[in-house]
Amino acid sequence: MAKTLITYFSRTGNTRQIAEAIEAAVPGNKECRPLAEIESVEGYDLLFVGFPVQTHSIPHRVEQFLKTIPRGKNIALFSTHGSLTGGRLSREALEHAASLVSSARLLGTFSCRGKVSQEALEVLSRSPEHKAWSEMAGSARTHPDEHDSKEAAAFARWVLTLAAG
Ligand SMILES: Cc1cc2nc3c(=O)[nH]c(=O)nc-3n(C[C@H](O)[C@H](O)[C@H](O)COP(=O)(O)O)c2cc1C
Repeated sequence: MAKTLITYFSRTGNTRQIAEAIEAAVPGNKECRPLAEIESVEGYDLLFVGFPVQTHSIPHRVEQFLKTIPRGKNIALFSTHGSLTGGRLSREALEHAASLVSSARLLGTFSCRGKVSQEALEVLSRSPEHKAWSEMAGSARTHPDEHDSKEAAAFARWVLTLAAG
């Protein structure tokens, strides 16, 4: 029976929340674990890999992990970000992640907003070049919300359909 791994890097829990929504939508043989616990992706037929956008890109640890994904492996990527949905930076982070798995079989990508920790917002609002960004990112404070989780579940079901095809 096909086996699915949902793995994620998450500092403040937003990406984990989306990972759990994906996990709930995947029937059957699956595991949902933080990236730090994954030693090998051998034996999994499909991988969902999630990360937060950090300083305009993807966390180093995730970058290193994506470089090890074997050729032809079924994979889907998801991310959370403080910026507005559809913004250039969050798109570029996912595009960068996709380029790292270009020899794998990328079945789809998903992203939604995630609240920025109060601590990070306070630090950013003190620096003139980040003040405007932190004000904009404040409107992510209710995310990920129920709608985001439902969209992530729909994404997961669609990826499963593609993986089976
Ligand atoms: C140190 C740090 C850097 C961040 N940099 C960005 C960024 O460049 N662009 C962005 O959209 N969000 C940025 N964010 C916001 C996170 O992407 C967002 O809060 C995300 O949902 C956090 O996910 P997590 O709870 O899984 O760690 C940053 C957050 C932190 C703490």
